[in-house]
Amino acid sequence: MDMAARFLVPLPTLMGLLIFLCVGPGAEGGKVLVVPMDGSHWLSMKEAVQELHARGHQMVVVSPELNMHIKEEDFFTLTTYASPYTQDEFNHLLLGQTYLIFERMHFLKMFLKAMESLKSAALVFQRSCEELLHNKELIRHLNASSFEVVLTDPVYPCGAVLAKYLSLPAVFFLRSIPCDLDVEGTQCPNPSSYIPRLFTMNSDHMTFLQRVKNMLYPLALKYICHISFTPYASLASELLQREVSMVDVFSFASVWLFRGEFVLDYPRPIMPNMVFSGGRNCGQRKPLSQLNGQVSK
Ligand SMILES: *[C@@H]1O[C@H](CO)[C@@H](O)[C@H](O)[C@H]1NC(C)=O
Repeated sequence: MDMAARFLVPLPTLMGLLIFLCVGPGAEGGKVLVVPMDGSHWLSMKEAVQELHARGHQMVVVSPELNMHIKEEDFFTLTTYASPYTQDEFNHLLLGQTYLIFERMHFLKMFLKAMESLKSAALVFQRSCEELLHNKELIRHLNASSFEVVLTDPVYPCGAVLAKYLSLPAVFFLRSIPCDLDVEGTQCPNPSSYIPRLFTMNSDHMTFLQRVKNMLYPLALKYICHISFTPYASLASELLQREVSMVDVFSFASVWLFRGEFVLDYPRPIMPNMVFSGGRNCGQRKPLSQLNGQVSK
């Protein structure tokens, strides 16, 4: 099928559209609802929010009261809602297992511990999302605020569910979603024989055995994705009162902005609504300290 042909628009229509975009209400800047993922993800998204604000858009960020990095700034309005946990619980559930990184233990024990900590972190985000979506007053307020679009990081699928609930178009801003859920959401072809999978260290040229490895590796991750993402599908099903799958939630995006770059990633088939903007990943880097330099010598 010729993809290009489907996007050909008659010239007068195109001109009309351009004129509308220049003089229409769009030119005054839109109202954007931002549902960020906390942690390092927010550091990348914050820059996009700042840039959109600089271009005249009104930015409203929604976040639970207790969070890691999402603090008041002058380039957006912060709307918070009560966290369903105390500060102690938050610290314990989210950061309690960080010591694992420095521990030396048997691989299997490490794997089980990592699973456990992943599960408890996933639970924190899941409970936050429930708190937001079940907050009738806040939902009524957001619904009445006439937002034009939801900007969200789909690694935390709460924003996608909220966009669907409020019937607003969603723009996804992401590096990737584990388990190829982004690929399923965009419906890109994804042949195992040519596209190297996460952690396999394969390239896009694989021997037979490497291809077998490429097929087997994703299976282990599937379980993690299952426990971290299915609760959002249940939440969406409950709110929309019909059966919603995880892929339904992820395929809701109008535009996918990937913080990726084919200089770093192997080439793969993409869709017309996928835009790549490499170099935006945790843009606020700090120079390495002198100490780091000495240690590595
Ligand atoms: C948002 O408001 C519209 C119009 O008042 C209403 O039809 C819709 O049900 C509301 N949506 C939610 C999620 O409350």
